[in-house]
Amino acid sequence: MFGPDCACLVVVGAQWGDEGKGKLVDVLAESADLVVRYQGGANAGHTVVIGDEQFILQQIPSGILHPGTSCVVGNGVVLDPQTFFEELDRLHAKGIATDGRILVSDRAHLVLPYHKLLDQAGEKSQKIGTTGRGIGPTYEDKYGRRGLRVGDLRNQDQTRKLLVERLERANALLEMLGATERASLDQHTALLQRIAPRLLPLTTDTGLVVDRAIKAGQRVLMEGAQGALLDVDHGTYPFVTSSNTTAGGAAVGAGIGPTAIDAVLGVVKAYTTRVGNGPLPTEARDERGAELRRLGGEFGAVTGRARRCGWFDATVVRYAARVNGLSGLAVTKLDVLDSFAEIPVGTAYQIDGDPCEEFPAGVELLERARPVYQSLAGWKRSTGEARTLADLPREARVYLDRLEQLAGVPIRYVSVGTRRDQIIAV
Ligand code: IMP
Repeated sequence: MFGPDCACLVVVGAQWGDEGKGKLVDVLAESADLVVRYQGGANAGHTVVIGDEQFILQQIPSGILHPGTSCVVGNGVVLDPQTFFEELDRLHAKGIATDGRILVSDRAHLVLPYHKLLDQAGEKSQKIGTTGRGIGPTYEDKYGRRGLRVGDLRNQDQTRKLLVERLERANALLEMLGATERASLDQHTALLQRIAPRLLPLTTDTGLVVDRAIKAGQRVLMEGAQGALLDVDHGTYPFVTSSNTTAGGAAVGAGIGPTAIDAVLGVVKAYTTRVGNGPLPTEARDERGAELRRLGGEFGAVTGRARRCGWFDATVVRYAARVNGLSGLAVTKLDVLDSFAEIPVGTAYQIDGDPCEEFPAGVELLERARPVYQSLAGWKRSTGEARTLADLPREARVYLDRLEQLAGVPIRYVSVGTRRDQIIAV
């Protein structure tokens, strides 16, 4: 999608996450100079397959797998420093050189062990089905103006003072939540002392870096995590993550103005999945749902949890197109549908017998939403070797045309397998 009119492109998930953004970003990063993560943290799991090797990237932008590309972890990310370096070391062990290719924002907030304890304790009553990575409590601290930022590591004495207050509060909360574990000041201090010398050399004002890259005419790719329906404002609240996963979050989380963004690519699976609790109107609760899970390998990249599976939900994607201002769609995992004789597509909802074409705000309404399905003919042939639309069976093209029409956004890419080359540019 990069070209004369597009130097700054945002890639977002347009369902409930796990749409295959990692693969799209990997493919697009080939022509990008800079890849920027702008929200979320180690709750994300972006899977990229290169040859026989599978990489699962959690906090490091998928662009790292292209030697000519630099990567930025922006201010909107909540950074778990421990797993960040584990991830970096795993890349090094696989021969990926990252020196001088990754920068971290001094404004990014740190996810610390106490955030994970709070996340796990909170889950016992709230039951959102979080990844347990401390994401929610870290964003709570950020917006409560009591977070610790990467740049704070420059002043260890001040950081220790802040930590004392934070841990006192965290331990009081843990007690209130009935948790038995407590956060230890020694453990936190030791962790920060250990990671600071490694993290600080990578730390800078990344908003300035991104701005300079854009002004120098470089190509910048913004890599979203999770999906629109997990956005804290626009998703199925409270069953959401704690950041703005939609394209507006890219400007804020990368530290640039919205006018710098040229296009937004929404990634959707050819069907729908969700991990964690909350409404999923087109969930297939029968054996076909289990078949989608088996064929699509639908198990969480971070937690290994089985994903809930169902049919393409056009109400969701139309809504995601609106709240993201999508310029194009990338449809992934079309090949997973290869063996189905008939494929239902949810075109709208009925709620309490009334038609509903717009995605409602309340989960109580969504729990009562009954999808209106249109059944499309399957193609019963393998699509994994298709490299142009013309290579696809006629029924698969009809299927894609219908998704495009229902979503109201042109399809720009179709992915037909996990490998880098298994992609059709439309
Ligand atoms: P949290 O982000 O760990 O707080 O989890 C909140 C919700 O978002 C839960 O339903 C998670 O399963 C979901 N979630 C978080 N990250 C991802 C992701 O990368 N893919 C899919 N679901 C996610």
